[in-house]
Amino acid sequence: MNSRLSSFLRDNTLVPETGRICVFGATGETDLSTLPQDRTDVVQGLYPEAEALRARGFSTKARPDAQVSLAIVCLPRAKALAQAWIKEAVRITPNGTVVIDGQKTDGIESSLTACKKRVALGGKLSKAHGKSFWFSSEAVFSDWGTLGAQQQDDGYWRAPGVFSADGIDPASEALVQALPQELGADIADLGAGWGYLSAQILVRKTVQKLQLIEADHAALDCAKKNVKDPRASFFWDDATSWTPAKPLDAVVMNPPFHTGRAATPDLGRAFIKTAARILKPAGQLFLVANRHLPYEAELTARFSVMKEVAGDNRFKILHAQKPTRPRR
Ligand SMILES: C[S@@+](CC[C@H](N)C(=O)[O-])C[C@H]1O[C@@H](n2cnc3c(N)ncnc32)[C@H](O)[C@@H]1O
Repeated sequence: MNSRLSSFLRDNTLVPETGRICVFGATGETDLSTLPQDRTDVVQGLYPEAEALRARGFSTKARPDAQVSLAIVCLPRAKALAQAWIKEAVRITPNGTVVIDGQKTDGIESSLTACKKRVALGGKLSKAHGKSFWFSSEAVFSDWGTLGAQQQDDGYWRAPGVFSADGIDPASEALVQALPQELGADIADLGAGWGYLSAQILVRKTVQKLQLIEADHAALDCAKKNVKDPRASFFWDDATSWTPAKPLDAVVMNPPFHTGRAATPDLGRAFIKTAARILKPAGQLFLVANRHLPYEAELTARFSVMKEVAGDNRFKILHAQKPTRPRR
């Protein structure tokens, strides 16, 4: 629980009596107890976090859509996204107050230094390996990047903070090299990101339908721009619980291996479990993983056949066939 933010808001009487409040990046865990729920919107594009916030009674949005009296930025780790959120927070808060809260490990010190160069701070607090500070929204951040999808030099659309925001992920590239031409008709890309892998799956002529499932709303927005193909459909959802209308021929994925800051194979294992659940009895899974990630036991437990079909010292491409578990 982030009690630093709550005590900072309370001690500086920063919560306005009237008007709307927008919190960027609060998660299901963030302590928002000092904020009036009926006047607060949380900008949260990650599907599982948005679900957790909605379960707590907060309204969530993928992007802010109205002016507010108070904007709070819970600093994300990606610097480009942090800058875009701070700039957006200032833009939607004319004559209001902007609060920034974050951990040292997420770069709060450099955000504080950058903000101090542009505007006089109203106040700040250092506590629990992080900082909170506030300033009035006259600050000018016109030289910082903006939120949302932007077309890059390689032609693909990407957005600040999405996975592999600076280019094509080498693991996905390795997976594409190893994918057979005969991939089946009905396919899903779990954790489709901004759509590189999906775009390459659609080059395979056997594909009649490709479903892209992605938890990050900004990444999925980019995927919609990168994958302009009538065979593709897009789902902002949690791949660990997603179920298609009917079982699939193949799942292709480069599963996430981070939950917050910690690297953990648990999320990848949950993706494998979904693949086994949503495939046809003769269905197949292709996945790429960092060489050190231990997915083989999960694959062997859930599929009749599993083998490494390609790889190098960084990545392995694993192919599993015929799920053995109850599928739906
Ligand atoms: C390693 S990236 C692969 C992205 C993409 N397939 C590519 O080739 O660039 C994993 C993706 O899974 C997404 N993700 C993480 N947790 C998720 C979840 N529970 N449900 C769906 N997608 C999730 C991340 O946002 C990220 O875009």
